[in-house]
Amino acid sequence: MKKNVNKGFFGEYGGAYVPEMLTAPLQELSDAFDKAMRSKEFKDEFRSMLKDFSGRPTPLILAANLTKKLGGAKIYLKNEGANHTGAHKITHCIGQALIAKRLGKDKLIAETGAGQHGVATATVAAKFGFKCKVFMGSTDMRRQRPNVFFMERLGAEVVPVDYGSKTLKDAVNEAMKYWMNNIEGCHYVLGSVLGPHPYPTMNREFQSIVGKEIKAELLKREGKGPDAIVACVGGGSNAIGAFAEFIPDEKVVLIGVEAGGTGRKKGFNASRSEFGKLGIFQGYKSLVIQDEDGQIAPTHSVAAGLDYPGLGPELADLYERKRLGLVSATDVEAIDAFSMLCKLEGIIPALESSHALAHAMRLAPKMRKDQLLVVNISGRGDKDIFNIARALKDEKFGDFLKEEITNY
Ligand SMILES: Cc1ncc(COP(=O)(O)O)c(C=O)c1O
Repeated sequence: MKKNVNKGFFGEYGGAYVPEMLTAPLQELSDAFDKAMRSKEFKDEFRSMLKDFSGRPTPLILAANLTKKLGGAKIYLKNEGANHTGAHKITHCIGQALIAKRLGKDKLIAETGAGQHGVATATVAAKFGFKCKVFMGSTDMRRQRPNVFFMERLGAEVVPVDYGSKTLKDAVNEAMKYWMNNIEGCHYVLGSVLGPHPYPTMNREFQSIVGKEIKAELLKREGKGPDAIVACVGGGSNAIGAFAEFIPDEKVVLIGVEAGGTGRKKGFNASRSEFGKLGIFQGYKSLVIQDEDGQIAPTHSVAAGLDYPGLGPELADLYERKRLGLVSATDVEAIDAFSMLCKLEGIIPALESSHALAHAMRLAPKMRKDQLLVVNISGRGDKDIFNIARALKDEKFGDFLKEEITNY
């Protein structure tokens, strides 16, 4: 068996810092992934599931009205929200489920923040016949209730995590703990490009289809590739998926947008580029938001999927090498961008994706009209209906909820 030592590093970031009990299952997963990448049969099955189950390729939409309003670069939206289950997460879930099947596992477990990765995991579990358990912070369960409801309808057990900040990082801790005690027959479907090797490499590989589709479609329609790509960054899976194809081409500007939350003070946002320090967290080394004692510090975002203190290691390395820019958008800017996209383009984006849009709206007017700006719309906004209604103070929606409760 090949050893994992020194594998999975991006510069000084990444690796696999795990208790001994997880070394063997991670090695098994790493070997299975390497084998899958050499297998035509695996690749054919993966591509066919993406096409026939998830509905790929997702549309690349010319945002003509937004382009006209902002008066700069021509804006294209890569609509990952058109995927089955409403976000990019289904792509790495399909990939991992196919690997788990080859490993003879019968149960999938996952963590989830916004609930999109949980729904996607529950979906592939139903499709492939796995048992399924999803760990979710109780704060996130409250703010993403529709996704909890659908995970349960899909046959998954949703386990509330009631300690720490009761959000994504606590859900990852709990899923890892469960995995350690239940390794036999169980595959942990980690939902972003974070955690120990091979997860950052594996999920990046699965998600890189996004950038490949952007390139092919733009070449067909514009005869050239993009000048800049903007994507939101929680752990980083939708961002690296859109960026990967273009990393070697230094002319393409890559920008990740972190949660600016409610202000530029530690604890009020999830800006790893501003507040992150080198640390080892949840099995990988990266930029992590910590307090003075090196404990994980609280984060905040209106978007549950961006409310996370660690940064995917490949993104941390790209940022350090100045190949990637990291900026932030606040809760308010994201909600404004959400409203603008709905009205101007007829697209309802997820709150996470609205962060990318908010920055794209700042950037586009500074670019030339002959330049192409692609915004990755990582998911659709259905899951955010309650948060958005509250943020917009939609009284009629409040009345509807009260009436529903009366009739329940
Ligand atoms: C729609 C959407 N976009 C983005 C994210 C952030 O995750 P990542 O940075 O891994 O793409 C999430 C996470 O739940 C999400 O649901």
